[in-house]
Amino acid sequence: MRANDLKKVVSRVSAGAKLIVVSNREPVVHERIAEGVKVLRPASGMVTAIEPIVRAVGGTWIAHGSGSADRLVVDERGRIGLPQDDPKYVLQRVWLTRAEEDGYYYGLSNTAIWPLCHHVYTRPHFSRRDWETYRCVNKRFRDAVLAEAGNEPAIVFIQDYHLALLPRLIKEARPDIKVIQFWHIPWPNREAFRILPWGEEMLDGMLGSDLLGFHLQYHCNNFLDTVDRGIESRVDYEQFRAFRGGRPTYVRAFPISVDYEQIGRDVESPIVGRQMDGFLKELGESNGGKLFVGADRVDYTKGIPERLRAFDMMLNGHPEWKSRVTLVQLAAPSRTHIEAYRKLNDELDDLVDEINWRHQTETWMPVRFLRAHYDYYAVLAAYRMAHVAVVTSLHDGMNLVAKEFVSSRTDGDGILILSKYTGAARELADALVVNPYDIDQLADVMYSACLMPEDTRRQRMEKMRAQVAKSNVYRWGGRIFEEAERILSRKVA
Ligand code: F6P
Repeated sequence: MRANDLKKVVSRVSAGAKLIVVSNREPVVHERIAEGVKVLRPASGMVTAIEPIVRAVGGTWIAHGSGSADRLVVDERGRIGLPQDDPKYVLQRVWLTRAEEDGYYYGLSNTAIWPLCHHVYTRPHFSRRDWETYRCVNKRFRDAVLAEAGNEPAIVFIQDYHLALLPRLIKEARPDIKVIQFWHIPWPNREAFRILPWGEEMLDGMLGSDLLGFHLQYHCNNFLDTVDRGIESRVDYEQFRAFRGGRPTYVRAFPISVDYEQIGRDVESPIVGRQMDGFLKELGESNGGKLFVGADRVDYTKGIPERLRAFDMMLNGHPEWKSRVTLVQLAAPSRTHIEAYRKLNDELDDLVDEINWRHQTETWMPVRFLRAHYDYYAVLAAYRMAHVAVVTSLHDGMNLVAKEFVSSRTDGDGILILSKYTGAARELADALVVNPYDIDQLADVMYSACLMPEDTRRQRMEKMRAQVAKSNVYRWGGRIFEEAERILSRKVA
């Protein structure tokens, strides 16, 4: 499916209703810099997937205005047309106070729900104050949705765990509005979920949706099981839906993806060539032959220390590879106000120092840890230079770095090392699939990647590219809207 096909599906399904997309993270962030205002695309899988969709179908995207220059570029209602040089949709920014951002984003969303949903042995912390702030902020988003809808029919497409209460809040105010929610992170099993003190209210919030999507069937199963045990409702496993107050929420798996074709075009652009030259200059003499590349937000779910330890182990076990292989890690700073993230950053600094100290020579540094927000074209350049891309998440709903890497390899070469605990591993069977907790295995696989012959690399890449080409992000969007059409036209039994 292509952008235009999706547009047709969405306009058929919406039948004149307004399309309103809602997320916490905005598609672009405007930051103040010395020379004026800089436009950044956030390092977010959600943005990577949703932006091309909204660009294709139009509508309004409501999101938190978090950039230091965000207020400077919008109109008096907080709106801006995007992309700025040729607007296709409207971004409506929602302003939050520092206290709201603290309690709702850093607190409840990322200190409670994020670790609760990712099984990575980082303990969630619960605070009633954060929960109350989360509730208030969800109401702020509801107000923005209702203002945008006015008195007209609307379809609201809500993204992610920051806005779990929003579906119910919208339905209470406007039962006629169609609500679709997509949960971009895993859904845990009910044993893990039941420690959340406000679990019932959260489930009730989500059961305001008409259609609720997850990446994997496994997450759908976990969700219905959690609902079955956690809240008064009727769960229908035949049709995969849950009734609360007589109204159904259909639960479905839609594995998310990327704009495969656009990435393929962008990677051939001269900007990417210039970025590659820039990287080579930055790596300088220390670029020892083959490059392993990681590109992640610095998050404890991404398995970055495990990746570094395995790389270290490979160099210890195969010293003949010293000076011939370098690990380049693009590391986008993330959520650094949260203690667990600060600790992770300290741990990474120590590890990188230790590994470099152990192996470096006068002309080669084994690990280049580039802590910065790299823009889209720079990330494409890094993918394109990679002999091996390394995705070692300990738990990840999908992981779009893997799919972006594959899409960028129009040259047909490149190896993907991919954690079996990502949603992407279910589709990309031709990656070198690893358990990132098993450092010995990861080191062995890294070594085998160094040795893999070109024809094997190409065969594997061809199969992965065919998979991502077939299941691109427009197909993902199309499947969601077609399913919405199907369930909304049904008589409920
Ligand atoms: O893709 C999962 C996700 O949590 C998105 O919801 C989020 O935008 C992204 O990762 C990055 O995190 P953040 O928005 O907190 O920077």
